[in-house]
Amino acid sequence: MSYETILVETRGAVTLITLNRPQALNALNSQVCAELIDAFAAFEADNSQGCAVLTGSGEKAFAAGADIKEMAEKPAADFFLGDFFAEWQSSIVKPTRKPWIAAVNGFALGGGCELAMMADFIIASDTARFGQPEIKLGVAPGMGGSQRLTRAVGKAKAMEMCLTGRMMGAQEAESAGLVARVVPLADLLEDTLKTAAVIAAMPRMAAMVNKEMVNIAFETTLEQSLLTERRLFQILTATQDKAEGMAAFVEKRKPVWTGR
Ligand code: CAA
Repeated sequence: MSYETILVETRGAVTLITLNRPQALNALNSQVCAELIDAFAAFEADNSQGCAVLTGSGEKAFAAGADIKEMAEKPAADFFLGDFFAEWQSSIVKPTRKPWIAAVNGFALGGGCELAMMADFIIASDTARFGQPEIKLGVAPGMGGSQRLTRAVGKAKAMEMCLTGRMMGAQEAESAGLVARVVPLADLLEDTLKTAAVIAAMPRMAAMVNKEMVNIAFETTLEQSLLTERRLFQILTATQDKAEGMAAFVEKRKPVWTGR
């Protein structure tokens, strides 16, 4: 598939995906969604790739939301009957078992904030601004914002942001737990790609299982998730990379991973 709204390149074992509609502040229309689904599926299927980074082109925005111009004239029945926004979860988040990071380089609003929160974690530039301003358009978040933001920053801040549309700056987002780290804008891409390269060089199955384990914490009871964690840990002990990792530690040498 050739892309018109995103750019995709590989840097060693890291796939870099760039939202590329800077004239619309990288707003997320149906074409962006379809192209991202394809790009994430290709990343997931490519054994040479271990981690992906998603960022926005230009210095102003990661993504300023779902495309308001596309939604403005759409009849309500089309949103409901077409299950509008369902694909982000079912075709990007769910099937992507390998880790990916959002490098948020500016506005991450509405669907842009929601897309960043779909990533396994966010690294933000000091210029990043996060918000769920849908209420100002007479609607509410539809791509996970009310749920993922609440889990990330707690009820008080999530409620305030959803009800007022207030944006949160990068420092506040870091102290509230929304982002893993804040770096100067000039360093954002290089820093995130380096972090992604570290992850991509880890034993592949262990990386996928670690991701799954952390995500389970948000999806089920503590008793169930502790059981799942133990079982996944036990399954990993059967891998060649477990034998190699532990032997390398004992023999005081660097491990050589096979991804098996
Ligand atoms: N959809 C479509 N186009 C958008 C857009 C969006 N979400 N955000 C910005 N654009 C377009 C603008 O229309 C403008 O295009 P034109 O030059 O053709 O007029 C261009 O991008 C530049 O934007 P501005 O001129 O508005 O730039 P600014 O610097 O003055 O303001 C901003 C920046 C504060 C981010 C402002 O653009 C803004 O408020 N954008 C909308 C943010 C928003 O409401 N997002 C939520 C969308 S709804 C949603 O996402 C639903 C959901 O839950 C999934």
